[in-house]
Amino acid sequence: MVIFKKIEDLKSYLSNIKNNGQKVGFVPTMGALHNGHISLIEKAKADGYFTVCSIFVNPTQFNDKKDLEKYPVTTNDDIEFLINAGCKVLFLPSVDEIYPGGEQLTRSFDFGYLDTILEGAKRPGHFKGVGQVVARLLDIVEPTGLFMGQKDYQQCMVVKMLLKTGNYSTIHMVICPTIREADGLAMSSRNRRLTQPQRVISATIYQCLISIESKQQSDKFSLVKKQCEDLLSAKGFNVEYVALADADNLTLLDEYETGRPMVALIAAKIGEIRLIDNLLIKIA
Ligand code: PAF
Repeated sequence: MVIFKKIEDLKSYLSNIKNNGQKVGFVPTMGALHNGHISLIEKAKADGYFTVCSIFVNPTQFNDKKDLEKYPVTTNDDIEFLINAGCKVLFLPSVDEIYPGGEQLTRSFDFGYLDTILEGAKRPGHFKGVGQVVARLLDIVEPTGLFMGQKDYQQCMVVKMLLKTGNYSTIHMVICPTIREADGLAMSSRNRRLTQPQRVISATIYQCLISIESKQQSDKFSLVKKQCEDLLSAKGFNVEYVALADADNLTLLDEYETGRPMVALIAAKIGEIRLIDNLLIKIA
């Protein structure tokens, strides 16, 4: 695997790869890699892409500066992980390399409704920062394929919108399924910060998502939502939302709707650690 810290070096290396007729598959990350990230690399490889991963902890998407300060950085382990996964290139830029003029938002993105609900409402400015850095990285890497995880469902929708509206319509986006621990906890870089007791109860989030799916025939969503909120609170979570939404456009739903593609989404904090997860509801 070749590691680049400078944009110009990466660009000239990739231009040779592209001239040789290879298509570049890009996996943007913020490091602290786990098997969820590796599954993206593997999918890109399996689809015949030359794989480029980036590790950049993007300051502009952290609305909570404490979260940024505590974001795990495990670069040496990440590099080993990527080599073992057969990743071809790692782009590891500094903040100055990505934001030479400072960290202010230089391009403005309007994600409309998507920025007003769930993660958008709970983390003001977050998606503007995501849009800014993803656009910057796409301009640098100029990939054919972009691989992202369903774990960040709303982020995937925001990036889809960015591809459509931001002149990136030739980029093929592949959304890969969430990878889970044996007890159902969605893999996330933030899981490393959980204490052992917090780690054990964190699986409750997935149990709640499963119950939202399994009770679609028997109960009203409003009741299941209340049961999930009560269970999570009883386990010590500070619940931010338990929501049901249209899977295609994220319109929030008060009740299950037969025949509509639906996704259940949960965000909850345990101690200082904020966890999010979601589940596409299989129609019963
Ligand atoms: O999902 C992430 O890790 C980040 O939001 C991303 C897409 C790499 C942008 O910084």
